[in-house]
Amino acid sequence: MKRFFVTLALSATIAGTGFAMTEGVENEAVKARMMLMDGVKAATGTLGAMGKGEMAFDADKAGEARQALIDHAAKIPAAFEAQEMDPKSTALPAIWENWADFEMKAQAMGAAAEELDTSDLGWVQAGMGDLGGTCAACHKAYRIKK
Ligand code: HEC
Repeated sequence: MKRFFVTLALSATIAGTGFAMTEGVENEAVKARMMLMDGVKAATGTLGAMGKGEMAFDADKAGEARQALIDHAAKIPAAFEAQEMDPKSTALPAIWENWADFEMKAQAMGAAAEELDTSDLGWVQAGMGDLGGTCAACHKAYRIKK
């Protein structure tokens, strides 16, 4: 179990995340899943910034971000499987009442990332809407709006 959390923390670190949002989170499992999401955000942010022209397009970096999203999506079910809670968490209990649907929404995110063609800026821009839609679909159902 310990190695599982180390791996999550490491992948989040590689994705270049800030840890500010997980400050004060006592529950280690909750912290790990929040860090996984922060990694998702970092990779999405890289692609988004390139899409908007805020960052120079780099096909290698875009490809790494795509791969990070695929890997992170695959880790979502294991990271959320145990019904762990923390006062700082924004996860809703509905996750565990609709587990199959939650897993499907994680898969949808992975599929949207796989669909991304990162060889060309135009294709990245074209695929971002679908990817973002998969974040929104899951957050809308399973996350407290803040
Ligand atoms: C299968 C469901 C699901 C998908 C898909 C998903 N998320 Fe999340 N996300 C969650 C849940 C649930 C939380 C709340 C976790 C908690 O606080 O315990 C969360 C939290 C977050 C957070 C806050 C992390 C923190 O430190 O508090 C960010 C940022 C985030 N998601 C970004 C994204 C982005 C960007 C995408 C799409 C590329 C995405 N998520 C896709 C379920 C999902």
